[in-house]
Amino acid sequence: PVAGLDAARLQISKTSSPKPKLAPESLVFGKSFTDHMLAIEWTAEHGWAAPQIKPYGPLMLDPASVVFHYAFECFEGMKAYRNKADEIRLFRPDKNMARLNASAERICLPQFDSEELIKLISEFVKLDKDWIPTDRGYSLYLRPTLIGTQPALGVGAPQNALLYVIASPVGPYYPTGFKAVRLEATDYAVRAWPGGAGNRKLGANYAPCIKAQREAASRGYQQNLWLFGPEGNITEAGTMNAFFVFKTPEGKRELVTAPLDGTILEGVTRDSILELARTRLDQNQWIISERYCTIAEVKAAAERGDLVEAFGAGTAAVVSPIKEIGWKEAAIFVPLQEGKECGELTEKVAEWIGDIQYGKDVHPWSALI
Ligand code: COI
Repeated sequence: PVAGLDAARLQISKTSSPKPKLAPESLVFGKSFTDHMLAIEWTAEHGWAAPQIKPYGPLMLDPASVVFHYAFECFEGMKAYRNKADEIRLFRPDKNMARLNASAERICLPQFDSEELIKLISEFVKLDKDWIPTDRGYSLYLRPTLIGTQPALGVGAPQNALLYVIASPVGPYYPTGFKAVRLEATDYAVRAWPGGAGNRKLGANYAPCIKAQREAASRGYQQNLWLFGPEGNITEAGTMNAFFVFKTPEGKRELVTAPLDGTILEGVTRDSILELARTRLDQNQWIISERYCTIAEVKAAAERGDLVEAFGAGTAAVVSPIKEIGWKEAAIFVPLQEGKECGELTEKVAEWIGDIQYGKDVHPWSALI
């Protein structure tokens, strides 16, 4: 019989040597990890083994493991938030579980019961809860990871896999508040393509993107902006979904992000922003669009004075304001609010989402654990 993932079978072995915790202000994103990790082995023959929470530490893997050769790996980025009342919340964990299962399905790794993994992650977070800073902007970044571990150089569906979750206490992405970034439009390489796997969170989607980021950095830009096709459709900003706000000819505002056509990472923050914009902004004044938008359209709008703001959206930074885009020797300038590093809507959605994450705005997206 093949076993499903079962949180009731959890075994816990606590560390006997807890690590010292860093002061919140010296945290660097993803550099330090809590005392424990969650790990669950899977085999095609027996299914999911008993989940284990154990001391954080190295994995021992056969060098022939398929993860190292054919990139059988997918992951998630999600966060646990703790407030001054010592309440701990996960933000929309069901979304991350659904996406991890979709990623796993795409690369023939095993799927699992989402609710069981949320229960296990909740137990893990509660055990290491002292690692979560309580100040606004701080959180525990969780990295669920699923790898194929079968030692075999033959290319095929893995018969062995490991699902594990590690946790890293993190501070605000920009410790000094928002810092608007300059992006370079990349038109000599693409991040994803129709029929590919760019909509899934595969490690293999990330490694080939660093070169374009490095090239942008060599010309003084903080990140790159991914374009696709002869039209130059804007797809993503670095590792984040990209949003633009335009003035329309009717005098309304339009919030635009690329449609989920299979080439766009299905961001949880992206989805949250769209949902909040549709329910909280005055729909007589706003048009919320998931549509293609070209770099030429952004440039023309900026030149007419119709480009209102632009930002990237992701779990790590929530929103990352954009102030300039370099494209074919030209600079496209994005307005910012007077004396601030972001646009009005960027600021508003960051506040809305933060209020939900820390339980200031009690919302079904952020259940207590
Ligand atoms: C995000 O949360 O914005 C990301 O995709 C970054 C992560 C891969 C570190």
